[in-house]
Amino acid sequence: MCGIVGYLGKHDTKGILLDGLKELEYRGYDSAGIAVLQGDEFSYFKAVGKLVNLEAKTAGFSTSGFAAGIGHTRWATHGKPTEINAHPHLGESSYVVHNGIIENYQELKNALVAGGVHFLSQTDTEVIVHLFESLMNSGMEPMQAFRETVSRLKGAYAILLITKQMPDTIFFAKHGSPMIVGVNESDEKFFGSSDAALIGKCNRVVYLEDGQLGFVSRTGIHLENSNACVVPRFAALPESKLAAQKEGFRFFMEKEIYEQSEVLSDTLIGRLADEAIVFDELDPSLLDGINEIKLCACGTSYHAALASSYLFERLGKIRTSVEIASELRYKEPLLCSDTLFVAISQSGETADTLETLKMARAAGLKTLVICNVDNSSMVREADAAILTRAGIEKGVASTKAFATQMVVLWMFSLYVAQTKGAIGTQAMREQIALLREIPAVVKVDDGLHERIRRLSKRYLHGHGFFFIGRDIFFPLALEGALKLKEISYLHAEGYPSGEMKHGPIALADPELFTIALMPKNLLYDKTKSNVEELSARDATICAISDTPFEKADDFIPIAAHAHYMPEFFEMMVVLQLLSMEIAIRLGNDVDMPRNLAKSVTVE
Ligand code: AGP
Repeated sequence: MCGIVGYLGKHDTKGILLDGLKELEYRGYDSAGIAVLQGDEFSYFKAVGKLVNLEAKTAGFSTSGFAAGIGHTRWATHGKPTEINAHPHLGESSYVVHNGIIENYQELKNALVAGGVHFLSQTDTEVIVHLFESLMNSGMEPMQAFRETVSRLKGAYAILLITKQMPDTIFFAKHGSPMIVGVNESDEKFFGSSDAALIGKCNRVVYLEDGQLGFVSRTGIHLENSNACVVPRFAALPESKLAAQKEGFRFFMEKEIYEQSEVLSDTLIGRLADEAIVFDELDPSLLDGINEIKLCACGTSYHAALASSYLFERLGKIRTSVEIASELRYKEPLLCSDTLFVAISQSGETADTLETLKMARAAGLKTLVICNVDNSSMVREADAAILTRAGIEKGVASTKAFATQMVVLWMFSLYVAQTKGAIGTQAMREQIALLREIPAVVKVDDGLHERIRRLSKRYLHGHGFFFIGRDIFFPLALEGALKLKEISYLHAEGYPSGEMKHGPIALADPELFTIALMPKNLLYDKTKSNVEELSARDATICAISDTPFEKADDFIPIAAHAHYMPEFFEMMVVLQLLSMEIAIRLGNDVDMPRNLAKSVTVE
């Protein structure tokens, strides 16, 4: 999730921009930059890594008098975290910063390059400033060129642009990514990706809506939507910066559960064609000579690996094995060169997973990492990487990281299928349609959340939890159990439903809580009979399904779906919310659970 700031006024533009970027650090980034226009004089600075590096580069720079400035912290999605790829991006006489993903950037770029435009960066963002300038060069006025530029963009964007052709002005546009514009008593104008960057600087803000664009100048705010002028609707800012960073949620974990819908849209952008999966970042030869996939990870990422293994064999028709990294390291494995080694890691720094990646490379295997952090150790180590685009995950308990890993692995299983000719056109169309449903499926329903919050008071004790499921819902059961363990400190086990009768059912009694995942579209009757066995022994059962189950003591409804994959993702959200609400009732620090770290960089 990139961060954007802007300022139009006569005070210390550099200081205001840098302070704003600091307030957005919580959004995560790997490079940053600012550009300032005073009169017709541009100054700009970019740096990789932390903001202190950018501060050092701007140490000798200051502004006095009226200026227009924009700033950006970048979380790499297209192109490595380098200075060249850092924002702002320059045209001939304009600078732009952007948060989001321009889905059609390649076709826009191809047309501009064919027209003689020279691109410096690998980013999608750079097309914005070159398109804007090419339209001005064709005779359009700046606002007309900006309006036309925005109309040609597909995808998600929050944009700020400054140009010598219209000094003392900042152009803005918002669609799919957040953008706020604020004004203070001195009539200074401020921009930010979230409240946090504006608190203390202004008191009246406009939360821009999708489709809105315009500019701020010395005289005010010009706001449009669909070519019609719009009267800005001002609101008050929250007081607390930390509250602002949590954007009104109680914990970062809660915010990240609610963010999953938006984030999964980013994960999918540019990767779904009508009848094919597209991974621009992969060399088509990656799968040459590959007859097996070996997935390797830890913790939640291991659960994503295990769940996706069902898809690689069912959809990809390729032999697939799954390893826990800390086990693989010392089991003297047989690693064969026709195996693609796939490491899955949110941080890209987990020591055990990183070491197995090195083992695989040393054994001559091709390696791929599914990761959320570009330029992490694993991304640098592997032959290829697919970024999950989850944005920073502040909660120690993984939520959106797991969701994005699952979607990327699901897409990759289809990518394997299409590469190996193992899937027909109709079947691929159906899978792509299912993938497109998922951002809406994971959108949190407030009524359901409130029902889960109320229900959670019944599950604060007991002598343990079983989370049970079959097939791909067994790894989801493992994940649900881990979520509960790591933030409520209550004991929980994930178990295959069919295995309960092979011992664990001996634990069944009213104090044994069983959370039963009962998808209608996958082995429902089999699962139902397993749950009935537990109910017959008076275990306390909470069924998660689209249909009430008379033998359950509690029931959490999900929507009726025509396929088990939407059921998987909707149940995932239920399990995340249930564990969080139980932990909140127990008074635990949901974001920073005891004994845990966000990234385990030691053995
Ligand atoms: C899960 O909620 C934890 N955050 C933990 O299990 C985590 O998934 C594991 O440590 C692996 O981390 P990684 O994905 O960064 O490699």
